Amino acid sequence: MRHLLTPDDLILEEIKTLIDIAYDIEANKNKYSKLCDGKTMATLFYEASTRTRLSHEAAMINLGGSILGFSSADSSSTSKGESVSDTIRTVSCYADIAVMRHPTPYTPMDAAIHSSIPVINAGDGGNQHPTQTLTDLLTIHREKGRLENLTIGLCGDLKHGRTVHSLVQALARYDGIQFVFIAPDELQIPAYILEDVLNHNGIGYTLSRELEDNLDNLDIIYMTRIQKERFVDNDEYERLKDSYILDAEKMKSASDSTLIMHPLPRVNEISTDLDNDPRAIYFKQVQYGVYIRMALILMLLGIDGI
Ligand code: NCD
Repeated sequence: MRHLLTPDDLILEEIKTLIDIAYDIEANKNKYSKLCDGKTMATLFYEASTRTRLSHEAAMINLGGSILGFSSADSSSTSKGESVSDTIRTVSCYADIAVMRHPTPYTPMDAAIHSSIPVINAGDGGNQHPTQTLTDLLTIHREKGRLENLTIGLCGDLKHGRTVHSLVQALARYDGIQFVFIAPDELQIPAYILEDVLNHNGIGYTLSRELEDNLDNLDIIYMTRIQKERFVDNDEYERLKDSYILDAEKMKSASDSTLIMHPLPRVNEISTDLDNDPRAIYFKQVQYGVYIRMALILMLLGIDGI
């Protein structure tokens, strides 16, 4: 039985397969519309979500499967004191695959140990978010035509941003990748990622506090929200929350091919005056997320042809 808990649970060849299937799904939706007939997905969300939960649910519905679940801890028996391991044992009796988001790092990993169905990590605290990474990889592949030889700027809350941690971990496995990490000192990328993922593998990167100075030589600028809910000190959040705001004026210094990505939700780190800029692809990311999650569900359920 397979789980998806971190991007490292997939080898590069499997990521390539998922991307190929996602392309095929986009082109031939009908071919896929009954493949999960009789299968059920449980979405177990102990933390707020719009896209990630609905995208998994849409993916399962598009495959002809059914969905059940809860969208906050308050509406589950967690509020009565039930452990996650008891919850997943229970859900294993009702569903064929589970998608879990939890505010505490590694909870989906713990759940997977007690689960008799595949578990997808839909975000564990400030740690990892592997299905957003699959979404981002498909988006980059679709819009740039490659996953190699790219210079990628990541900007915002790189300390708490789980989408950033997973994306860096995944992209670091492709050739010719360079990173530019743009954040206030307090919110820079964690040392373990610099050491274990980048230095260890000889991958080039620079650290910067400035957004504008870096925009002219990036293939992609990946903006992120300052993660309010992860701050212990609210005054610190208030001080840092508007550190970076990307707008049409600043994007004049970027090239025509510098794409703007964001996992969403956006607060105000990308001005809406960029929404109609052809380089802004954050709403395309949302659409691609459904296709790659459909491909992932098929792979984890071991459904024919995958
Ligand atoms: C992100 C998340 O939940 O980590 N959103 C998402 O899943 N697309 C990013 C965020 O909340 O800032």
